[in-house]
Amino acid sequence: MDDWTQDVGEVLLEEEVIRAKVKEIARRIEDDHQDGDILLVCVLRGAVIFFSDLIRALDLPVSVDFIAVSSYGASTKSSGQVRLIKDLEASIEGRHVILVEDIVDTGLTLSYLLRNLGNRNPSSLQVCSLLSKPSRRKVEVPVEYIGFEIEDQFVVGYGLDFDQRFRNLPYIGVYSPGSDH
Ligand code: PRP
Repeated sequence: MDDWTQDVGEVLLEEEVIRAKVKEIARRIEDDHQDGDILLVCVLRGAVIFFSDLIRALDLPVSVDFIAVSSYGASTKSSGQVRLIKDLEASIEGRHVILVEDIVDTGLTLSYLLRNLGNRNPSSLQVCSLLSKPSRRKVEVPVEYIGFEIEDQFVVGYGLDFDQRFRNLPYIGVYSPGSDH
């Protein structure tokens, strides 16, 4: 079979580097939530790998839920129109909620989610994202827990895709078609 990773160029974040960062973020969340009882919300689909590692790194009682949003391609996304395609299962009223994302780019997705979930009267609403591309921001969004700030490069792996592929790479690399490593 062809090497399915041949369009992935530079490895930006090795598996061990990500693993160490996940632990570091988990310790910070634990320090801030000693009373426990937090609800972690995974924003499907990109965050799923980070989410599953993060919740296992947390030495706290946590609950989980899932939400999915979508945009109709880049032009719609830049206009800020985000659509809810799968809602949470349960009420978040009175809960300490942490939204978990793989990447914050323009900030439009999070801005929508913070507004939408903020209207449901949670006790607190925070954001945790493995990656952030500050140079791409169109709207400012508060992100309490950030793993890595990266340049404006197209990255894949560890949940992040190009055309739905590469989510299962254990590391994060730069998508560079034709690079052949
Ligand atoms: C990605 C990512 C965030 C969003 C960030 O999701 O998971 O949800 O884009 O971009 P923004 O800050 O510009 O709004 P994507 O729409 O690629 O879907 P996916 O999670 O299913 O891969």
